[in-house]
Amino acid sequence: MGRKLARRLCHLKPSATLLITAKAKELRAKGVDVIGFGAGEPDFDTPDFIKEACIKALKEGKTKYAPSAGIPELREAIAEKLFKENKVEYSPSEIVISSGAKMILFLIFMAIIEEEDEVLLPSPYWVTYPEQIRFFGGVPVEVPLNKDKGFKLTLDDIKDKVSEKTKAIVINSPNNPTGAVYDEEELRRIAEFCVERNIFIISDECYEHFVYEDKKFISIASFDEEVKRITFTVNAFSKSFSMTGWRVGYVACPEEYAKAIASLNSQSVSNVTTFVQYGALEALRNPKANEFIKTMREAFEKRRNIAIEKLSEIPEVEVIKPEGAFYIFPNFEYYSKKLGGDVKLSEYLLEEGKVAVVPGSAFGKEGFLRLSYALAEEKLIEGIQRINEVLKKL
Ligand SMILES: Cc1ncc(COP(=O)(O)O)c(C=O)c1O
Repeated sequence: MGRKLARRLCHLKPSATLLITAKAKELRAKGVDVIGFGAGEPDFDTPDFIKEACIKALKEGKTKYAPSAGIPELREAIAEKLFKENKVEYSPSEIVISSGAKMILFLIFMAIIEEEDEVLLPSPYWVTYPEQIRFFGGVPVEVPLNKDKGFKLTLDDIKDKVSEKTKAIVINSPNNPTGAVYDEEELRRIAEFCVERNIFIISDECYEHFVYEDKKFISIASFDEEVKRITFTVNAFSKSFSMTGWRVGYVACPEEYAKAIASLNSQSVSNVTTFVQYGALEALRNPKANEFIKTMREAFEKRRNIAIEKLSEIPEVEVIKPEGAFYIFPNFEYYSKKLGGDVKLSEYLLEEGKVAVVPGSAFGKEGFLRLSYALAEEKLIEGIQRINEVLKKL
């Protein structure tokens, strides 16, 4: 009696994507042949050379506490990577490593949000952002994006939503769930505006390597020194090296913020598992990694094309062409309305078609569905066929 959980938890929702993946797994364990479009992870295994470096470190006794911002070699390798690949110069002291990009984002929001601070959130958004923002008393302010413009963020979209309380904006390009890759010129305008208004930029670059056709990825912090000063560059080993279960992510930002984030990390996570960090180091140092990324990118681009083609064959479904990441986010409003919402539609597809998808409402966009195409081509084709078949019955 009278004992309650903290108020900050009252709005907290568990991750919808993890829930649907768990539900599909449960059905599979019962012997049901479910095709899973829910997973937010590559279907490739982590390369052996990364695993071996981790095992070697473990055998060599790298089993004790490590510095809470990360082992120095890894911070150095990340700084080199950011300079070489992303054209941003950070020193190792401006880099903090924690348990995946998710924990890094949690620490950033913890470090910058005060009660009622507003954080601009281009919508559709990745499910975790609004939950984390609210957790620290912040207010996620949705910036609705237009499907007819490929869900790409523009400065005009933001201008409507900025207020005196705006503290930060989250930019995630390539985007989860839409696959949108924002235009460089527009990003420059947005960055300039954020500098003028003193708005932090949280740039989630987890899908940097997954851009298709002639699209180019660009790191916002590379624009100029002023932009770099307000930007938290967030990235992880999870998607690029297929290391989702390893839990290694990082942020690069001005040293005073990095120090604060490292302190928060030291009082919560302590450090990312020490020998795991040596695996991550190998991912950056071994030239074979580039080949691995290329293989994944090519496979995903091929599957993206298949997904576009097959989904376009379903009557009344509108496909918005994704340019990056490994998700496609088509408009299923026609069917969703028939069934009373996209959650009902997802349940119907799982029960009748044995296909797991994530409802768009989890990402702030009712009537859409997110399908990950990080699965084998034949499964991808069969899964979309199943969707097509069961929708015919409606
Ligand atoms: C946009 C985005 N950011 C961050 C993450 C979390 O990555 P990590 O597994 O490194 O915590 C994900 C994972 O799905 C994501 O889609």
